[in-house]
Amino acid sequence: MNADLVIKNGWVVTPEETFKGGVAIKDEKFVALGTDDVLPTGKEEIDAKGKYILPGIIDGHVHFREPGLGYKEDFTTGSTAAVCGGVTMVMDMPNVTPPTADAEKVRDKIKLAEGKFLTDVAFFGVVVQTNIEQILPMAEAGVIGYKIFFGETIGNLPFPDDGACLDAFRFIAQSKLPLGIHAENRQIMAYHTNKLKAEGKNDPIYWESSRPDICEAESVHHAIFFAETFGTKLHVYHMSSKQAAWMVRDAKARGLRVTAETGPHYLLREYKDMAEVGPLLKMNPPVRSRDHAEVLWDGLLNGYIDMIATDHSPHTLEEKGSDITGKMTKPAIWDCISGFCGVETAVPVMLTEVNKGRMTLNHYVKLTSENPARVWQIYPKKGCIRLGSDGDVTIVDLEKEGTIDVNKLHSKNKPSPWHGWKVKGMPVCTIVRGHVQMRDGEVVGKPVGKVVRPNP
Ligand code: DOR
Ligand code: ZN
Repeated sequence: MNADLVIKNGWVVTPEETFKGGVAIKDEKFVALGTDDVLPTGKEEIDAKGKYILPGIIDGHVHFREPGLGYKEDFTTGSTAAVCGGVTMVMDMPNVTPPTADAEKVRDKIKLAEGKFLTDVAFFGVVVQTNIEQILPMAEAGVIGYKIFFGETIGNLPFPDDGACLDAFRFIAQSKLPLGIHAENRQIMAYHTNKLKAEGKNDPIYWESSRPDICEAESVHHAIFFAETFGTKLHVYHMSSKQAAWMVRDAKARGLRVTAETGPHYLLREYKDMAEVGPLLKMNPPVRSRDHAEVLWDGLLNGYIDMIATDHSPHTLEEKGSDITGKMTKPAIWDCISGFCGVETAVPVMLTEVNKGRMTLNHYVKLTSENPARVWQIYPKKGCIRLGSDGDVTIVDLEKEGTIDVNKLHSKNKPSPWHGWKVKGMPVCTIVRGHVQMRDGEVVGKPVGKVVRPNP
């Protein structure tokens, strides 16, 4: 057999083991894996000497902003940033204009994606007060799951009230797709925001106190109760607090299908950093204190937080109310928008932690490849190096050092709190279904990306 692509002479990493050798891909699927002597020859061959061959990294949470908000990011720039960051597949969010809130919008988005993505992609549908009857049709149209914004955030999407949630959770359970929640209690955040404003506390450092831990925890508690009542698969997006993490842990222990993600900023940054990087680190929910981060790490290491996802959410500098160094250019933190780039920086930032010994590379691929694929029900098509699975690979060089320079990011808008961050461990090649998309930081591929549908 002659394969299309053979990667050899490296270290293949799976959640279970690391072995010397490589993989072969033909017709977009893995057709061989093992030591170099068992691999077929390839039309194209990559020598991965000294490098690690990982299952393709999946970012389960990005905002690529099409349709309607393409001035912030678009499918081409977003997926270019992704492959440059070592990511082979993304899950894209529905808070766009118009919101992805019915079957027709889902089909429009899938059409809009044609010929633009360098990665593979899946799309979420949003559930609001007025589109409950669209839940099952959106599944039919191909969404990977649903999103409910419980608290006000970018896009100002109206959330379903508790009455509407009775139907929403029931229909979502019927769809067999998971419901992802943006968990923030709107009344708690309004109360604290008004109080801080009245006290004239307008600096970036107060952002966290405007949406404190209880704000997220109460919302997660509420949603777990609904999910348990209706048998809905529940996923907590961008988890930031220890209380929420413990609730997910306890729900799992009770046998519920509750999963969660957290992101590099919640693990490695703290709210105090906003004194330095100002609105650049402004995110919903906010980055908190070290004690929260330590529990989030514990959750990742001990299986009660399932994955690392970035919440890549670019905005213009003008919207961020910041210059590129983090100096606030608007009167108050309330005037600055929430969200920042992440899809291109997460892999080097987290590999740096692997190098420091915070987790093994095997565990890292579980959190960034296998688990996102399992949670979103596309495993084993995605998320593993197995015969017959899609030939998605991220090759990383654990010795390669660098400094994150936001000016070199590939997103349309580059504001990020990671500027100047020292990293050791970088992606050097990104392969999507056998197509080499990035090599040594350069885009070398074409928009071959496909929309992936779940298989519940
Ligand atoms: O900070 C955020 N930005 N949180 C969200 O939930 C949405 C995101 C965005 O779309 O910019
Ligand atoms: Zn998000």
